[in-house]
Amino acid sequence: MSTKELLLQQLLRSNDTYISGSRIARNLGISRNSIWKAVKSLEADGYEIDAVTNKGYRIVSMPDILDETSIKEHLNTKIFGKNIIILDQIDSTNNYARNIAEAGAENGTAVIADQQTNGKGRMGRTFVSPKNSGIYMSVILRSDVDIQTAQLVTSCIAVAVSEAIDSLYGCSSGIKWVNDIMVNDKKVCGILTEAAVNCETADFKYIVAGIGINAGSVKYTFDEQLLETASSMEDETGLTVSRNLIIAQVLNRLEYHIKNMKTKDFINEYRSRSWIIGRKVTVCKNNIERNATAVDIDDSAGLLVEYDDKTSEVISSGEARVRRI
Ligand code: BTN
Repeated sequence: MSTKELLLQQLLRSNDTYISGSRIARNLGISRNSIWKAVKSLEADGYEIDAVTNKGYRIVSMPDILDETSIKEHLNTKIFGKNIIILDQIDSTNNYARNIAEAGAENGTAVIADQQTNGKGRMGRTFVSPKNSGIYMSVILRSDVDIQTAQLVTSCIAVAVSEAIDSLYGCSSGIKWVNDIMVNDKKVCGILTEAAVNCETADFKYIVAGIGINAGSVKYTFDEQLLETASSMEDETGLTVSRNLIIAQVLNRLEYHIKNMKTKDFINEYRSRSWIIGRKVTVCKNNIERNATAVDIDDSAGLLVEYDDKTSEVISSGEARVRRI
């Protein structure tokens, strides 16, 4: 870690209280002059630091810069996020994660970018990924997941994200089957899970869990059409959000749920957070569209729908578009 990162760690650890220059110097084994230079460097990055004679230093406000040290301050995981790769710009973090997974990257490695130039959504769509405001994160999963259980991974991630943002910002997010997170009826997060299968054993080599969260305001970066259905945490809650904190909390909840995925306990949470049950939907399967009502979530996170002709079906893939009537 650089002196600047070490200083940031000290300041974050002292929470809202002042930490003296001599204490920092002792803890880090560096001179007061080096501390002063590191303080100036943090200020240049947008941190506001109060320096008071005989008291020391205290962080007043922080820029929402993606930062490994800040993420790790809030992590309480054993595996997830122990390896973090932060990129300024990439086509897609899922592509990057797949490449490093092929080269042997470890279970729980998180690839995070400040901007994606070709963010991928489900069904071949684009995930709009502007700079400085969103969370574009792909986590490599290498547990002993069989094909049946793997189908649950996406729903497991949705529960983790929904719990994380609710616990941090006091909202009541909902999960739109299968994997969108909604706040105030607007999409604030999408999830794209990709996997590499070992054809000989029919096991997964790895799964890449791609999570896109609109954290900071998107009012000026999304076009009007997109703003009809999508929004951001900041725009919906009116609160200043921290990407580093959200990332850490998502990783905390994700590790918990993935570890316990086989018990299927998270399904109850998935069901109770469902945003779609009771809504009129259009089910799109094999390019055929049928109107239905979403009735329930089954024990495999499939969506039970009742078609307008009163027949029912559990759908486990494809799409259920909500009819806003
Ligand atoms: C969807 O809403 O259709 C899914 C969107 C998934 C977006 C995330 S952002 C991080 C990861 N990298 C990508 O290219 N896509 C996923």
